[in-house]
Amino acid sequence: MSEPKIRVLVSREEIQAKTEELAKRITEDYKGKDLLLVGVLKGGFMFLSDLARAIDLPLSLDFISVSSYGNSTVSSGVVRILKDIDYDITGKHVLIVEDLIDTGLTLTYLKDLFKAKHCASVKVCTILDKPSRRKVDLEVDYQGIIIPDEFVIGYGLDYQEKYRNLPDVCVIEGLE
Ligand code: IMP
Ligand code: MG
Repeated sequence: MSEPKIRVLVSREEIQAKTEELAKRITEDYKGKDLLLVGVLKGGFMFLSDLARAIDLPLSLDFISVSSYGNSTVSSGVVRILKDIDYDITGKHVLIVEDLIDTGLTLTYLKDLFKAKHCASVKVCTILDKPSRRKVDLEVDYQGIIIPDEFVIGYGLDYQEKYRNLPDVCVIEGLE
């Protein structure tokens, strides 16, 4: 079997520059507040680790693991919690950290879930966004890089659990 052809869509330099810009805004906005970053596994792990290091504030970290797609590249609209957050989030300012917003179904579900737990606030930060694919109206508080409607891999994102470790966001050529 020949290796698939991979093309860089968003370079690591662009990702780094956008991450620093978002982190600066977050640092300003959350001064004096009890900030909890919640990374959405698995895809969000790489961005969370870069973003957390770029935010100049004392903060806490937690993770939630959800499954929305199975092994398909198309959203089923069904969100399943595979691993819930560990701590009581009452009174905390929660910032959900995502790799990519596509239909918006996952984050709409997660926002509602956290709001029901009486946190002080719930906001969303994503490094990549495909607004043309949105199925629900979702407010994105910290929007990263807007990308076209193409299936992407790398920087945490997978295709059938592979390619998460690529440092750039890429497209697989010829993927149906
Ligand atoms: P949404 O619920 O449709 O907004 O998508 C939720 C999640 O699906 C994203 O955070 C990604 O983890 C995954 N996803 C969506 N589009 C892609 C893609 O192009 N490549 C890899 N994963 C994707
Ligand atoms: Mg994700």
